[in-house]
Amino acid sequence: MCGIAGYVGPRNAVEVVYDQLKRLEYRGYDSAGIAFPKGDEIVVTKRAGKLSELAQALSDKWPEAPLAIAHSRWATHGAPTDVNAHPHFDQTEHVAIIHNGIIENYLDLRQELISRGHKFHSQTDTEVAAHVIGEEYEKGGPLEEAVRRAIARLRGAYALVVVSHLENDKIVCARNSSPLVLGLGKGENMLASDIPALLPYTREVIVMDDDTLAVLTTEGIRLMDANGRDLPVEPMHVDWDVAAAERGGYEHFMLKEIHEQPQVIRQVLAGRVDEKFKVRLEGIFGEHVWTEIDRVNIIACGTAYHAGLMGKHLFETLLRLPTDVYYSSEFRYGDPVLSPRSLAIFVSQSGETADTLAALKLCKQRRIRTLGIVNVIGSSIARECDRTIFTQAGPEISVASTKAYTAQVMVFALLALYIAQVQEMPGVRVGEWVEELMRMDSLAEDALKLEPEIIRMAEDMKNMPLCFFLGRGADAYVAVEAALKLKEVAYIPTQESPAGEMKHGPLALVQPGVAAMFGATDPHTRDKVVSNMKEVQARGGTVVAITTDDDTIMDQAADQVVRIPRAKFEFLSALLSIIPLQLFSYHVARLNGCEIDQPRNLAKSVTVE
Ligand code: G6P
Repeated sequence: MCGIAGYVGPRNAVEVVYDQLKRLEYRGYDSAGIAFPKGDEIVVTKRAGKLSELAQALSDKWPEAPLAIAHSRWATHGAPTDVNAHPHFDQTEHVAIIHNGIIENYLDLRQELISRGHKFHSQTDTEVAAHVIGEEYEKGGPLEEAVRRAIARLRGAYALVVVSHLENDKIVCARNSSPLVLGLGKGENMLASDIPALLPYTREVIVMDDDTLAVLTTEGIRLMDANGRDLPVEPMHVDWDVAAAERGGYEHFMLKEIHEQPQVIRQVLAGRVDEKFKVRLEGIFGEHVWTEIDRVNIIACGTAYHAGLMGKHLFETLLRLPTDVYYSSEFRYGDPVLSPRSLAIFVSQSGETADTLAALKLCKQRRIRTLGIVNVIGSSIARECDRTIFTQAGPEISVASTKAYTAQVMVFALLALYIAQVQEMPGVRVGEWVEELMRMDSLAEDALKLEPEIIRMAEDMKNMPLCFFLGRGADAYVAVEAALKLKEVAYIPTQESPAGEMKHGPLALVQPGVAAMFGATDPHTRDKVVSNMKEVQARGGTVVAITTDDDTIMDQAADQVVRIPRAKFEFLSALLSIIPLQLFSYHVARLNGCEIDQPRNLAKSVTVE
């Protein structure tokens, strides 16, 4: 999510790390900062806002230094302010760190450190990590040993980069689940969160593994495992061009973001589920509120609206909590009937969609409780809602939303389980659900392995004049999102509806050449879905079934069958089925030469009504 840069060598390190941050701009950011050791202190400059704000703060006297680290932040804990920007100091200010990821046990550690007299200036988990490192450093160096001891106390995902003025010739870094790459030069070495930042300086890179540390000096790079044992330094040669490197080697951001979904699932859950399979949602309404709520209204646009449909399905089937979903643009002019005990949930990736913001203001005027499910921290919707749960999906660049959808639906699942937990609903097996949510990342990885099969399917079907997207239950809700993807990026007309509704009109559109993608992940309705497939085939349409890997009947029913891993709960299998469908839209669009990341006529953030 954040951009990380570090350099040690003969050039001016401050200029190099600033240039490296600029090359990571596509990752999105809301604040940035730089640190370098000088004499008996570490000089830190940081600013909220664009990189140019940081440049302005430095440029009066662009400082000279042989070693520096820098960070561009995409906020996850605490608003994007000067104080919350990285680098952060430890208690003694002998150490400064930058960090990408989430320290899950930061609240416990913070309490522990406060009880020992530590004072914190920011709301970030990163500052807590800095204090833990500082505490270990006080027990004795060298810096890499202190970092190694400190990370044994941290739980979560991190790429950490540490400097100290007491050992001002080295940068120490550590990685667990957040990206970190090292670059080897001649008499200079560097690091970054992504390869493009290194390419102007070196093509010899090491992608760090989880649970490893590195020490960078002008002399070289030392790599270690978590026990401090040396590991071989084996760089690979990268010959990507810079634009391709920004997309991590993927042809488009959309494809990159589809592939990021396993990681996004981990990020959504980070710090929110514990080892006893309980849900922990910090900063939302008190427990008594959840027993008062008699109705939920979900309000959103586009893909976020479709995530809301999934939320409705879960709230109603799991919690028996009446839930309606509204398009924001309709809600605000529709004079909605709102119970004073209802909860309004606003779903938005950007947090800036004008219609959703206007609907939120209406609910506030009517004194209805409001909850945001938002990706961008510090955005208007996040700020205006009474409470907000952040999706923690990282910046989404492609106009067609993919990973934000999965993150939004995962948040709905967490919220539903949280409500069941606080209300002690006997019928909901919260522990089993949480355990299954924790498996969703690896199931998503398996679903992504279907890509070669999906490419072949896209090649066969790329000229279809019309594509139906159909299903029952949660599959019907996934169908509307899948249809939106194909329309948005491949410009192919779609017809989406619950499978059983087909025969009441849409079936008239079926003729040879027309395709129909059927979601059939729920074994309870699979027989009925097969009947609907037959109706399409009888009129010359081509039928594709997206089903689970334990299915035995679809081979006889559909023209093509895509099998995704089966999750323990049908709702989660349906959610996984969006992955092959996203890939399908992407590859149809690519094969047809469409402009994928910025489709015609569309925008990522719609700030007009
Ligand atoms: C635009 C985007 C969609 C997005 C919708 C809602 O139409 O192209 O991808 O789903 O806005 O945006 P939001 O930021 O509120 O989720």
